[in-house]
Amino acid sequence: MHLLSTRDLDRDTAIQILDVAEDMAQTADREVRKLPPLRGKTVVNLFFEDSTRTRLSFESAAKRLSADVITFSAKGSSVSKGESLKDTAQTLAAMGADAIVVRHHDSGAAHQLAHAGWIDASIINAGDGTHEHPTQALLDAYTIRERRFGHEARGRDLEGMRVVIVGDIVHSRVARSNVWLLATLGAHVHPVAPRTLLPHGVDEWPVTVHEHLDDALALAPDAVMMLRIQSERMRDAFFPTAREYARVWGLTAERFARLGPDTMVMHPGPMNRGLEISSEAADSDRSTVLAQVTNGVSIRMAVLYLLVAGSSTTDSGEGER
Ligand code: NCD
Repeated sequence: MHLLSTRDLDRDTAIQILDVAEDMAQTADREVRKLPPLRGKTVVNLFFEDSTRTRLSFESAAKRLSADVITFSAKGSSVSKGESLKDTAQTLAAMGADAIVVRHHDSGAAHQLAHAGWIDASIINAGDGTHEHPTQALLDAYTIRERRFGHEARGRDLEGMRVVIVGDIVHSRVARSNVWLLATLGAHVHPVAPRTLLPHGVDEWPVTVHEHLDDALALAPDAVMMLRIQSERMRDAFFPTAREYARVWGLTAERFARLGPDTMVMHPGPMNRGLEISSEAADSDRSTVLAQVTNGVSIRMAVLYLLVAGSSTTDSGEGER
C-alpha cells in the first residue's frame, strides 16, 4: 500500500490515521519511547529536494517504531551525476527497502515510483513538486482536531469547521493536499490569494475562493493557514513587492489582533517572517506552528505503522488505497 495523495483517502481511513496518530502521541510520554512494530524493516528517506522538518520528522518516526532508517539526499549522491529515478529505485530495491519516503521536484514522481514496477515497497509521498504533500495535510487536520476537541478528539471529523488558506496556493502542495483532506473531513475550505497565485482549475475544487483577505478573516474561521511564498518556484514576478504583499496578503500584527480568540494560526514552515506572517501571529499562543511539528512525528508514525507493519515481504506492493 502507498500514500500518494489525500484524494485517495476516504473519511474513515483518514480518521483511522488520526486516531492511530493519537495513540502514537501517547507513547511519547513514556520513559522508553521506542516501540517494536517495524523491527527488521527498512525505511528509506529519499530526498531530491531540500527539507528540514519533513525529513527529520520521518526519520524520527521510523526510528521510534524500531525500523532501520537510511536517509539519502540527492546532493552528494549519484543523482547529481545524472542517475535516474529508476536506477535509484532499483538500487534501493536491491537493498531491501520496505518503505520509501520520497520528496521530489517533479509533480508525479511518487506516483511513478509506486506504479512503474521498479520496486516492491510502500511509497509515501513527502512532497512532489507542486502536487501533493499528504502527511502535511494529515498533521494539519490532526492539529485542528486536537486543538478543537482536546481529549474528546478520537473518532471525530472536522464537520462544519472553517479553514482559510492564504497565499501562494499555485505553488503549494500543502494547500492541495489540505483541500482534499479537509473537504473529506467535512470542513469548509476558503482559499484567498492574489489572482496570480491561484491555480487554473481552482473553480473545480470543493472550496469557496475569496479575493480579499479581510473578507475571509471576517468569517470567524476556526483556523487560518498561512502559506510560505515559494520564491524558489517563481520565475516571474507574481506580486509587485514583498512590502506590498505583506501589507495586502500577510497576517500582520493588526490583522492578527482582529482575529477571534479561538482562531488558530497555522503555518507548515519554513516561515518568511514579516512577509506572509508577522512574528506577533507566529509566536502567539494561538499559533500552532510548533504543535504542527510535534504532531508531524505522530502522524508519520501512524502512516508508517499502517502501511508497513502489517505487510510481510510477500504481500507488500499488493493493492493500493
Ligand atoms: C512545505 C513543503 O515543503 O511543501 N514544507 C514542509 O513540508 N514543512 C511547505 C513549504 O515549503 O512552504
